[in-house]
Amino acid sequence: MKFRKNILCIGAGYVGGPTMAMIAYKCPQYRVTVVDINPIRIAEWNSDDLPIYEPGLGEIVKATRGKNLFFSTDIEGGIRDNDIIFVSVNTPTKTFGAGAGMAADLQYWEKTARQILQYSESTKIVIEKSTLPVKTALAMEKILNYTKNSISFDVLSNPEFLAEGSAIKDLENPDRILIGCQDTKSGLAARETLVEIYANWVPREKIITSNIWSSELSKIVSNAFLAQRISSINAISALCEKTDADIAEVSKAVGMDSRIGSKFLSASVGFGGSCFKKDILNLVYLCQHYSLHEVADYWESVVRINQYQQERFILNMLTTMFNTLAGKRICLFGFAFKANTGDTRESPAIYITKRLLEEKAEIVITDPKALKNAKADLTGMEGQVSFVEDPYKAAEGCHAIAILTEWDVYRNLDFQKIFNTMTKPASIFDGRNIIDHKRCFDIGFNVYPTGKPALTHS
Ligand SMILES: NC(=O)c1ccc[n+]([C@@H]2O[C@H](COP(=O)([O-])OP(=O)(O)OC[C@H]3O[C@@H](n4cnc5c(N)ncnc54)[C@H](O)[C@@H]3O)[C@@H](O)[C@H]2O)c1
Repeated sequence: MKFRKNILCIGAGYVGGPTMAMIAYKCPQYRVTVVDINPIRIAEWNSDDLPIYEPGLGEIVKATRGKNLFFSTDIEGGIRDNDIIFVSVNTPTKTFGAGAGMAADLQYWEKTARQILQYSESTKIVIEKSTLPVKTALAMEKILNYTKNSISFDVLSNPEFLAEGSAIKDLENPDRILIGCQDTKSGLAARETLVEIYANWVPREKIITSNIWSSELSKIVSNAFLAQRISSINAISALCEKTDADIAEVSKAVGMDSRIGSKFLSASVGFGGSCFKKDILNLVYLCQHYSLHEVADYWESVVRINQYQQERFILNMLTTMFNTLAGKRICLFGFAFKANTGDTRESPAIYITKRLLEEKAEIVITDPKALKNAKADLTGMEGQVSFVEDPYKAAEGCHAIAILTEWDVYRNLDFQKIFNTMTKPASIFDGRNIIDHKRCFDIGFNVYPTGKPALTHS
């Protein structure tokens, strides 16, 4: 069969895999290939055990794989044979040299640009899907168009706004698609090609365009705003705990103001995930670079409050459990950074586990989808940490449960059954405010919600 377009994506991660699966699913007339340097990841994409968990992902991969969706390690062939190339490689925070701990590490990104240049035999449209600092597209265009041969490259910015855990829903029905391009004849033509792809299933009015720099910056700012709301409500949760106000009541009252809105106003143990912290730090670095120090400080405080919230959670456990956790068994309900994903990158659970181990506690971790990643995150700590899939078994003999991920399954557990097997006094620290606190208190638990009065049997 002859396909109308041949599309390549470099980077088969949490973004590249699902976004390309959605394009293939919605556009059977296109051939979509996803390549990666990691052969294990590609083998998993080609198996029944996909490398990432997302509700609904398995179904659309099953419907398209081998028909118009292909996963491969042949990066060279992929670049040669496709004229539309999405780049969705990782852009983590730099850990070395200038800007370490703040700036984006662009080594994977630049390597990809050089590979595209090396293997291209025809003109290409290159689409930034990775989240990148402002002006990266310009740098890529410079690398790509350096040789001044007959092949030309147009670079577009098309940031991805999906949220892990609801990626398929977000991709199928996005709030908006943003495409940034250069204001040149070929830039505008390239943009139209990309608009055409999305228009197969996204209403035209949701496909918005801008200049490249606005597009790059909008993605970072969106994540900064989302994280800022979480840090704002978490900061107020600390005040609630001191004043006997209830954060859920405050959130409800504040969120009903239509100017504010109700989303992202749930107090918690803090945000995680691979993006929020790195994108804010990237924003902070950019502001510092342009000597906007007050702006940089403002955004950096969002990350500081997130750290503070996690530390507060630990200190609350310590002080309420008689100032010692040494030898106590603590069960973590959830290790993923949020529900409906197995992703544990930057999960508060990692920090909390390490801090609890410093206090010489014994840790039992349970999670419906993230135990494999949790084991990898905690390599070298196997003796002090155990991993148990069944939450009832995990809690057996424990002094406390800390709820760290808002998995639905934890809302409806039989807490009486759990209480019966735990060491007394048994405590629950609800870092997500998802369980029925009063009921657990009535069963006999000491209950410590986030931003609400504690319920304790003194
Ligand atoms: N995860 C999210 O929720 C999310 C959402 C929106 C945007 N983003 C952004 O999308 C980008 C990708 O994020 P992710 O979570 O998918 O990362 P990821 O680490 O899951 O995937 C990146 C993949 O790129 C591959 N890769 C790296 N260099 C390569 C190269 N030269 N050639 C081929 N493959 C290469 C890696 O092996 C890896 O499999 C990042 O910039 C991130 O900030 C992520």
